[in-house]
Parts: sequence; C-alpha cells; structure tokens
Amino acid sequence: MRLRIFSPGQLVTDWTVHAVRMADDLTTAGKLWSAPWQAAVRAVPRHELVPVHYQRVPGTEQWTRAETTLDLAYSNTALFVLPDGLSSTSMPSLMTRMLEALDVHDRHNVLEIGAGTGYNAALLCHRLGDQHVFAIDLEPTLVQLARQRLARIGYHPTLVTADAVNGLPEHAPYDRVIATCSVPAVPWSWVEQTREGGLILADIKLAALTGNLVLLHRTADGAQGRFDRTYGGFMAMRSSGETYSSSRPRRIHRDRSSTRIRTSTLDVSHPWEHSVLWFLAHLHLPPGISFGLCGKDTSTPPTTAFLSAADGSWCEIDEPSPDGTRHVREAGPHQLWRIIEETHATWLRMDQPGWERFGLTVTTNRQAVWLDEPRNVLRQLTETHSSR
Ligand SMILES: C[S@@+](CC[C@H](N)C(=O)[O-])C[C@H]1O[C@@H](n2cnc3c(N)ncnc32)[C@H](O)[C@@H]1O
Repeated sequence: MRLRIFSPGQLVTDWTVHAVRMADDLTTAGKLWSAPWQAAVRAVPRHELVPVHYQRVPGTEQWTRAETTLDLAYSNTALFVLPDGLSSTSMPSLMTRMLEALDVHDRHNVLEIGAGTGYNAALLCHRLGDQHVFAIDLEPTLVQLARQRLARIGYHPTLVTADAVNGLPEHAPYDRVIATCSVPAVPWSWVEQTREGGLILADIKLAALTGNLVLLHRTADGAQGRFDRTYGGFMAMRSSGETYSSSRPRRIHRDRSSTRIRTSTLDVSHPWEHSVLWFLAHLHLPPGISFGLCGKDTSTPPTTAFLSAADGSWCEIDEPSPDGTRHVREAGPHQLWRIIEETHATWLRMDQPGWERFGLTVTTNRQAVWLDEPRNVLRQLTETHSSR
C-alpha cells in the first residue's frame, strides 16, 4: 500500500484503502455481491470524479461549495455536484444495487441515462470496457467535466450531451438501459433502443417520493417487468432550463372560504414511510400534486403536511393529537386526503401488497400498472402523470 503526505504533518493512506473499505461495507450491507462489481468499486477513484460538492444552506436558496474529503467520497452518501441541485452523485449502495440487478454480461452495450459525475459510467467501463458504455446528460458542463475527469483516470466511454427523452439513437440498440433520473412514465425511445431480450432499469416516480425502480424486459412489442422489492429514488428528469428551485413544490394560494374541517385517524402523512400507498394514491389524485411539510419555523419539527393539486384542490393534515386523531382541512374540487384514505382502504383489501407485487407493461400506446399479473391492471400511466 502506498502512503502519501497530503499536508505537512498529516499522513493519509492511499484512496484505495477507502475504496476497498467501501466495497466491503456495501458487500456486508447486501448491496453488492458479485466479484466483477466488487472489483469495479475497489478500482474506481470516486474522489477524482467528485472533487467538490454543494450543500444548500438550510432555510435559504443559497448553496455552498465544499471540497470532498476522501472519507466523504467513499461513504454511502449522495452529494450534489452542481449548485441549485441540478445534479448529484447518487448513494453508492443504490448504484451497486442497480448494477447488480442489471445483469450485464461481457460485450453488452449499456446506455446510462443521467451521466452526472460519470462515476456509474466508470464502474461500467471497468466491467465492460470503454467501447460498450454510452452515457448522456442534459447538462453540458457536467458532460464536459465528466469526460475530462474520466479520461484522467483512464476511462473513455461515449459521453453525449442530450435530452434523455430521446435516448441516444445513434448508438442503439443497447443490451441494457439504466436510468439514474426518475420519469413519470418510460419514454418509448428507451424501449425502442433496447434490443429484444434486453433490460431497462428505470425509476418511475409520479411525483417526488411516489414510485420506485422497475426492471423491464424488452419484448417483441414493448417491455414488461416488476417493481423492485426495495425502495430506490432519483431526482426527476427535467427539461432544459428547469432548475431545482423552479421544480420544487410551491404552496398554492389557499382559498379558505370553503374549507372543510374534519378529523382523520389515518397515519400515513409521510410519503417516504408509505411509498407503495402514495404511489397507488397518485394513480387517482388529480394532476400536478405538490407535497410539503410546514411548521412554525425551520428550527422546530414540522407540524403540518400539505398537498395541493394543479386544479386548486388542497389539504392540510396536522400531526396527531395525543389521542391519535389528526385535524384535516380540505378545499377545492377534490378532497385530496379523502383519496388517500380510500386508497389506504383499497390497499388493505388487497392484503397490503409490497412493491414486488406490482408490475408495469409498456407498449407504444399504453403503460399499465398491474398487481401480481399483467392482466390484473390497476391503472394506466397517462400524460397527466408526465411533468413534461
Ligand atoms: C442523480 S444524477 C445521476 C448520477 C450519476 N449517475 C452519477 O453517477 O454521478 C441525475 C442526472 O440526470 C440528469 N438529467 C436530468 N434530466 C435529464 C434529461 N432530460 N436528460 C438527460 N439527463 C438528465 C441530471 O443532469 C443529473 O446529472
């Protein structure tokens, strides 16, 4: 093992020690298990691809820039890599879980949607070789930085600035497509550009926190597969010009003149704790849902969750009183919390299914979410679920 002096008096072990430790930790945690991916995690210098990161100053729209220490670069942490939250490098455990699920074999051609820092592309290059890896990102600055940094550490995938909605037709077909930004429905271009028998691993999110990873098998006329047993999530695919601030939920003006006030005993107001239920509810909620938490100020825990829809419907759900009931205020054309309550009742009747019981079938003209088997369709994903 090489030892390097980073600054006078400070003896720092080589980065490979950190990379090996991260591979071991991910293996112990059950997020990494095959020898080729373990070797890739040990070999790719993540700190070279994420030399700096950004943090939002709590309660403000300001971002601060900080150098990434070796400890941080090789921890299971997602880091914003552009100010305004336009890109992040995802948690290594999420990436390795996805790479394992992708079931790649020698000579497979892989398209990565959302190249970001290039870390995932570097892992793919280590596994498959540069000529088999294609990655796109909307952000030209990122693509340029990733290309330079990857070249410096010896990787040369095909990196292109492009909008993921179109895929990357010039190098298709691919054996595998892996998306590291979420979409409300699978762009048909991804299906079209995947070889029959190939796999598409995507994150379907109807709104923030309401969806999950789905592994689709390319069939003769589309793609079909099941959602992942474990939750995983990415930032949403965005259009050019859209920023983190502009895509954040807005509290719409609430007309309180016709507010309905009632109580509810349902305890599911945090979507991240009940992701299946919130996904199902979003199949029935009106379009343009925003979710947020509010309270007295940023130094105390939130006291109220709120939901609003593009049609002006909104609801507020207070934290429970000591007897377990919550005060609910609702107004507008749709009773949003009522829809969540009805979905919860349906989910109980379905025997409380987890993610693994849900699937998705994609054809040219429809995307159907089903329970247990493709003919048991629950709902179609439609344009109203698309933010684009
Ligand atoms: C979570 S990051 C990807 C992390 C990356 N895989 C890595 O290893 O660092 C999501 C990326 O998706 C990109 N993205 C968002 N919308 C996009 C679009 N329409 N087309 C292409 N890339 C997009 C963002 O710029 C961002 O870099």
